Amino acid sequence: MHIQILGSAAGGGFPQWNCNCANCAGFRSGTIRAHARTQSSIAVSDDGVNWVLCNASPDIRSQLHHFAPMQPGRALRDTGIAAIVLMDSQIDHTTGLLSLREGCPLDVWCTDMVHDDLSTGFPLFTMLSHWNGGLHWNPIEPSRDFAIPACPGLRFTPFVLRSAAPPYSPHRHDPHPGDNIGLVIEDLRTGGKLFYAPGLGAVDDALLARMHAADCLLVDGTLWHDDEMSRRGVGTRTGRQMGHLAQSGAGGMLEVLEAFPAQRKILTHINNTNPILDEDSPERAELARRQVEVAFDGMSIEL
Ligand code: MLT
Ligand code: MN
Ligand code: ZN
Repeated sequence: MHIQILGSAAGGGFPQWNCNCANCAGFRSGTIRAHARTQSSIAVSDDGVNWVLCNASPDIRSQLHHFAPMQPGRALRDTGIAAIVLMDSQIDHTTGLLSLREGCPLDVWCTDMVHDDLSTGFPLFTMLSHWNGGLHWNPIEPSRDFAIPACPGLRFTPFVLRSAAPPYSPHRHDPHPGDNIGLVIEDLRTGGKLFYAPGLGAVDDALLARMHAADCLLVDGTLWHDDEMSRRGVGTRTGRQMGHLAQSGAGGMLEVLEAFPAQRKILTHINNTNPILDEDSPERAELARRQVEVAFDGMSIEL
Protein backbone atom coordinates (compact mmCIF):
# COMPACT_ATOMS: atom_id res chain seq x y z
CA MET A 1 0.00 0.00 0.00
CA HIS A 2 1.14 3.48 -0.82
CA ILE A 3 0.43 6.19 1.73
CA GLN A 4 1.03 9.81 0.83
CA ILE A 5 0.96 12.55 3.44
CA LEU A 6 -0.68 15.43 1.59
CA GLY A 7 -0.93 17.71 4.63
CA SER A 8 0.55 17.26 8.11
CA ALA A 9 -0.66 20.35 10.03
CA ALA A 10 -3.72 20.83 12.23
CA GLY A 11 -6.43 23.38 11.46
CA GLY A 12 -4.84 26.69 10.39
CA GLY A 13 -1.76 25.05 8.86
CA PHE A 14 1.81 26.16 9.56
CA PRO A 15 2.52 29.00 9.61
CA GLN A 16 -1.04 30.04 10.41
CA TRP A 17 -1.97 33.14 8.39
CA ASN A 18 -2.77 35.40 11.38
CA CYS A 19 -0.45 33.89 13.99
CA ASN A 20 2.71 35.36 15.47
CA CYS A 21 3.47 32.67 18.03
CA ALA A 22 7.15 31.74 18.45
CA ASN A 23 6.89 29.07 15.73
CA CYS A 24 4.91 31.06 13.15
CA ALA A 25 6.94 34.25 13.62
CA GLY A 26 10.20 32.28 13.85
CA PHE A 27 9.43 30.51 10.58
CA ARG A 28 8.60 33.76 8.76
CA SER A 29 11.74 35.51 9.96
CA GLY A 30 13.93 32.47 9.32
CA THR A 31 15.13 32.33 12.94
CA ILE A 32 14.00 28.74 13.46
CA ARG A 33 14.62 25.70 11.27
CA ALA A 34 11.17 24.42 10.30
CA HIS A 35 9.06 23.42 7.28
CA ALA A 36 5.70 24.89 6.23
CA ARG A 37 2.81 22.45 6.41
CA THR A 38 -0.66 22.32 4.89
CA GLN A 39 -3.74 21.00 6.68
CA SER A 40 -4.30 17.37 7.59
CA SER A 41 -4.97 14.88 4.80
CA ILE A 42 -3.56 11.63 3.43
CA ALA A 43 -4.12 9.55 0.31
CA VAL A 44 -3.82 5.76 0.16
CA SER A 45 -3.68 3.40 -2.81
CA ASP A 46 -3.09 -0.26 -3.55
CA ASP A 47 -1.92 0.29 -7.14
CA GLY A 48 -0.55 3.84 -7.15
CA VAL A 49 -3.20 4.81 -9.74
CA ASN A 50 -6.51 4.89 -7.86
CA TRP A 51 -6.32 6.83 -4.61
CA VAL A 52 -8.59 7.13 -1.60
CA LEU A 53 -8.41 10.59 -0.11
CA CYS A 54 -8.74 10.50 3.67
CA ASN A 55 -10.04 13.95 4.60
CA ALA A 56 -10.38 16.87 2.19
CA SER A 57 -8.42 19.83 3.49
CA PRO A 58 -8.90 23.50 2.58
CA ASP A 59 -5.40 23.24 1.04
CA ILE A 60 -6.35 20.49 -1.38
CA ARG A 61 -5.56 22.44 -4.56
CA SER A 62 -1.92 22.89 -3.61
CA GLN A 63 -1.72 19.35 -2.18
CA LEU A 64 -2.86 17.84 -5.49
CA HIS A 65 -0.56 20.16 -7.40
CA HIS A 66 2.42 18.83 -5.45
CA PHE A 67 1.56 15.14 -5.90
CA ALA A 68 1.56 14.25 -9.60
CA PRO A 69 0.00 10.72 -9.34
CA MET A 70 -3.27 12.30 -8.32
CA GLN A 71 -3.44 14.13 -11.65
CA PRO A 72 -2.99 11.23 -14.10
CA GLY A 73 -4.29 13.08 -17.19
CA ARG A 74 -5.99 10.08 -18.85
CA ALA A 75 -8.88 12.18 -20.15
CA LEU A 76 -9.72 15.82 -20.76
CA ARG A 77 -11.10 16.01 -17.21
CA ASP A 78 -9.51 13.49 -14.83
CA THR A 79 -8.37 12.82 -11.27
CA GLY A 80 -6.65 10.07 -9.32
CA ILE A 81 -9.18 10.53 -6.48
CA ALA A 82 -11.40 7.45 -6.62
CA ALA A 83 -13.18 8.03 -3.30
CA ILE A 84 -13.07 10.20 -0.19
CA VAL A 85 -13.25 9.03 3.42
CA LEU A 86 -13.94 11.56 6.19
CA MET A 87 -12.79 11.03 9.78
CA ASP A 88 -14.97 13.84 11.16
CA SER A 89 -16.84 16.94 10.01
CA GLN A 90 -14.23 19.52 11.08
CA ILE A 91 -13.43 22.42 8.74
CA ASP A 92 -9.82 21.31 8.25
CA HIS A 93 -10.97 17.83 7.11
CA THR A 94 -13.96 18.68 4.92
CA THR A 95 -13.76 22.15 3.36
CA GLY A 96 -11.69 20.80 0.45
CA LEU A 97 -14.86 19.14 -0.83
CA LEU A 98 -15.95 22.59 -2.05
CA SER A 99 -12.81 22.82 -4.18
CA LEU A 100 -13.54 19.42 -5.72
CA ARG A 101 -16.97 20.46 -7.02
CA GLU A 102 -15.88 20.35 -10.66
CA GLY A 103 -15.34 16.59 -10.21
CA CYS A 104 -18.83 15.72 -8.93
CA PRO A 105 -20.37 13.25 -8.54
CA LEU A 106 -17.90 12.13 -5.86
CA ASP A 107 -18.11 9.06 -3.66
CA VAL A 108 -17.83 10.06 0.02
CA TRP A 109 -17.60 7.59 2.89
CA CYS A 110 -18.48 8.85 6.38
CA THR A 111 -20.58 8.01 9.44
CA ASP A 112 -24.20 9.10 9.86
CA MET A 113 -23.03 11.64 12.48
CA VAL A 114 -20.63 13.28 10.04
CA HIS A 115 -23.24 13.13 7.27
CA ASP A 116 -25.75 14.84 9.60
CA ASP A 117 -23.31 17.65 10.43
CA LEU A 118 -22.51 18.08 6.76
CA SER A 119 -26.22 18.28 5.92
CA THR A 120 -27.15 20.76 8.70
CA GLY A 121 -24.55 22.88 10.57
CA PHE A 122 -22.11 22.84 7.62
CA PRO A 123 -24.33 21.63 4.77
CA LEU A 124 -21.75 20.57 2.17
CA PHE A 125 -23.85 17.59 1.02
CA THR A 126 -26.83 19.88 0.47
CA MET A 127 -24.88 22.63 -1.28
CA LEU A 128 -22.93 20.35 -3.58
CA SER A 129 -26.10 18.54 -4.71
CA HIS A 130 -26.34 21.41 -7.19
CA TRP A 131 -23.13 20.27 -8.91
CA ASN A 132 -23.67 17.32 -11.24
CA GLY A 133 -24.99 14.83 -8.71
CA GLY A 134 -22.93 16.24 -5.83
CA LEU A 135 -21.59 13.95 -3.12
CA HIS A 136 -22.74 10.37 -3.09
CA TRP A 137 -22.87 9.20 0.54
CA ASN A 138 -21.60 5.71 1.44
CA PRO A 139 -22.41 5.16 5.14
CA ILE A 140 -19.60 3.98 7.45
CA GLU A 141 -20.71 1.91 10.40
CA PRO A 142 -18.21 1.90 13.27
CA SER A 143 -16.28 -1.38 13.56
CA ARG A 144 -17.75 -2.76 10.34
CA ASP A 145 -15.07 -3.29 7.67
CA PHE A 146 -15.67 -1.82 4.27
CA ALA A 147 -14.06 -2.02 0.86
CA ILE A 148 -13.82 0.69 -1.74
CA PRO A 149 -14.34 -0.73 -5.25
CA ALA A 150 -11.56 1.34 -6.84
CA CYS A 151 -8.99 -0.04 -4.33
CA PRO A 152 -10.02 -3.70 -3.94
CA GLY A 153 -6.70 -4.61 -2.33
CA LEU A 154 -7.38 -2.52 0.77
CA ARG A 155 -9.61 -3.29 3.74
CA PHE A 156 -10.83 -0.35 5.81
CA THR A 157 -11.81 -0.91 9.45
CA PRO A 158 -13.32 2.17 11.09
CA PHE A 159 -13.48 2.56 14.86
CA VAL A 160 -14.95 5.26 17.08
CA LEU A 161 -12.73 7.72 18.89
CA ARG A 162 -13.53 9.85 21.87
CA SER A 163 -13.26 13.41 20.63
CA ALA A 164 -15.56 16.38 20.06
CA ALA A 165 -18.00 17.31 17.28
CA PRO A 166 -17.28 20.72 15.73
CA PRO A 167 -18.85 23.98 17.01
CA TYR A 168 -21.47 24.02 14.21
CA SER A 169 -22.62 20.45 14.88
CA PRO A 170 -26.23 20.27 16.14
CA HIS A 171 -24.92 17.91 18.85
CA ARG A 172 -21.74 19.78 19.75
CA HIS A 173 -22.32 19.34 23.48
CA ASP A 174 -23.78 15.85 23.24
CA PRO A 175 -21.05 13.53 21.85
CA HIS A 176 -22.16 10.53 19.78
CA PRO A 177 -20.22 7.48 18.58
CA GLY A 178 -19.21 8.29 15.02
CA ASP A 179 -18.50 12.01 15.52
CA ASN A 180 -14.84 11.06 15.06
CA ILE A 181 -13.41 7.86 13.73
CA GLY A 182 -10.00 6.36 13.17
CA LEU A 183 -9.14 3.79 10.53
CA VAL A 184 -7.09 0.65 10.25
CA ILE A 185 -6.23 0.21 6.58
CA GLU A 186 -4.87 -3.20 5.65
CA ASP A 187 -3.25 -4.19 2.39
CA LEU A 188 -4.68 -7.66 1.71
CA ARG A 189 -1.70 -8.62 -0.45
CA THR A 190 1.22 -7.53 1.74
CA GLY A 191 -0.62 -7.75 5.07
CA GLY A 192 0.69 -4.26 5.93
CA LYS A 193 -1.50 -2.39 8.41
CA LEU A 194 -1.80 1.33 8.89
CA PHE A 195 -3.44 2.76 12.02
CA TYR A 196 -4.60 6.30 11.22
CA ALA A 197 -6.09 8.62 13.82
CA PRO A 198 -5.34 12.33 13.28
CA GLY A 199 -7.74 13.34 16.07
CA LEU A 200 -7.32 11.06 19.06
CA GLY A 201 -8.46 12.33 22.44
CA ALA A 202 -8.12 9.26 24.66
CA VAL A 203 -7.12 5.62 24.45
CA ASP A 204 -8.92 2.58 25.82
CA ASP A 205 -8.18 -1.16 25.75
CA ALA A 206 -9.90 -1.78 22.40
CA LEU A 207 -7.90 1.00 20.81
CA LEU A 208 -4.62 -0.17 22.36
CA ALA A 209 -5.22 -3.63 20.86
CA ARG A 210 -5.71 -2.13 17.39
CA MET A 211 -2.55 -0.04 17.81
CA HIS A 212 -0.61 -3.10 18.89
CA ALA A 213 -1.48 -4.92 15.66
CA ALA A 214 -0.39 -2.08 13.34
CA ASP A 215 2.86 -1.84 11.34
CA CYS A 216 2.61 1.92 11.15
CA LEU A 217 0.96 4.26 13.64
CA LEU A 218 0.05 7.61 12.12
CA VAL A 219 -1.49 9.50 14.99
CA ASP A 220 -2.58 12.79 16.49
CA GLY A 221 0.42 15.09 16.91
CA THR A 222 -1.56 18.28 17.56
CA LEU A 223 -0.03 19.46 20.84
CA TRP A 224 3.06 18.82 22.93
CA HIS A 225 1.52 20.25 26.10
CA ASP A 226 -2.13 19.84 27.00
CA ASP A 227 -2.21 23.57 27.92
CA GLU A 228 -0.03 24.66 24.99
CA MET A 229 -2.52 27.18 23.59
CA SER A 230 -2.45 29.18 26.84
CA ARG A 231 1.34 28.68 27.29
CA ARG A 232 1.81 30.26 23.85
CA GLY A 233 -0.71 32.98 24.69
CA VAL A 234 -2.91 32.19 21.68
CA GLY A 235 -5.96 30.57 23.28
CA THR A 236 -7.45 29.00 26.36
CA ARG A 237 -8.69 25.60 25.25
CA THR A 238 -6.78 22.53 26.33
CA GLY A 239 -5.99 19.49 24.22
CA ARG A 240 -8.45 17.49 26.30
CA GLN A 241 -11.22 19.97 25.55
CA MET A 242 -10.42 19.84 21.83
CA GLY A 243 -10.22 16.04 21.73
CA HIS A 244 -6.45 15.83 21.24
CA LEU A 245 -4.16 13.79 23.50
CA ALA A 246 -0.96 15.81 24.05
CA GLN A 247 2.43 14.15 23.56
CA SER A 248 4.16 15.02 26.83
CA GLY A 249 3.53 13.95 30.40
CA ALA A 250 2.15 10.89 32.16
CA GLY A 251 -0.33 9.06 29.94
CA GLY A 252 0.62 11.33 27.02
CA MET A 253 0.97 10.15 23.42
CA LEU A 254 4.72 9.41 23.73
CA GLU A 255 4.13 7.15 26.68
CA VAL A 256 1.25 5.46 24.85
CA LEU A 257 3.37 4.89 21.73
CA GLU A 258 6.19 3.33 23.72
CA ALA A 259 4.21 0.12 24.25
CA PHE A 260 3.86 -0.86 20.59
CA PRO A 261 6.03 -2.93 18.25
CA ALA A 262 5.12 -0.92 15.09
CA GLN A 263 8.09 -0.32 12.76
CA ARG A 264 7.04 3.28 12.33
CA LYS A 265 5.42 5.70 14.76
CA ILE A 266 4.57 9.01 13.12
CA LEU A 267 2.90 12.16 14.46
CA THR A 268 0.64 14.15 12.13
CA HIS A 269 -2.03 16.89 12.39
CA ILE A 270 0.57 19.09 14.12
CA ASN A 271 -0.61 22.41 15.47
CA ASN A 272 1.46 25.51 14.66
CA THR A 273 2.12 26.04 18.38
CA ASN A 274 3.80 22.64 18.83
CA PRO A 275 7.54 22.95 19.70
CA ILE A 276 8.33 19.81 17.64
CA LEU A 277 7.97 21.95 14.50
CA ASP A 278 11.25 23.62 15.48
CA GLU A 279 13.76 21.05 14.25
CA ASP A 280 16.36 22.20 16.77
CA SER A 281 14.07 22.03 19.80
CA PRO A 282 14.69 19.71 22.74
CA GLU A 283 11.21 18.26 22.15
CA ARG A 284 12.20 17.26 18.62
CA ALA A 285 15.37 15.66 19.99
CA GLU A 286 13.27 13.68 22.43
CA LEU A 287 11.17 12.34 19.55
CA ALA A 288 14.35 11.26 17.76
CA ARG A 289 15.53 9.46 20.89
CA ARG A 290 12.22 7.63 21.07
CA GLN A 291 12.26 6.90 17.31
CA VAL A 292 9.03 8.78 16.78
CA GLU A 293 8.84 10.56 13.42
CA VAL A 294 7.15 13.82 12.49
CA ALA A 295 5.04 13.68 9.32
CA PHE A 296 5.75 16.28 6.65
CA ASP A 297 3.94 17.27 3.48
CA GLY A 298 5.12 14.99 0.69
CA MET A 299 6.13 12.10 2.98
CA SER A 300 5.56 8.67 1.38
CA ILE A 301 5.10 5.45 3.33
CA GLU A 302 5.03 1.94 1.85
CA LEU A 303 3.43 -0.93 3.77
C1 MLT B 1 -9.15 20.23 15.42
O1 MLT B 1 -8.85 19.12 15.03
O2 MLT B 1 -9.42 20.46 16.62
C2 MLT B 1 -9.19 21.28 14.36
O3 MLT B 1 -7.91 21.33 13.74
C3 MLT B 1 -9.73 22.57 14.76
C4 MLT B 1 -9.82 23.50 13.59
O4 MLT B 1 -9.88 23.08 12.43
O5 MLT B 1 -9.81 24.71 13.83
MN1 MN C 1 -8.24 19.22 12.97
ZN1 ZN D 1 1.38 30.05 15.42
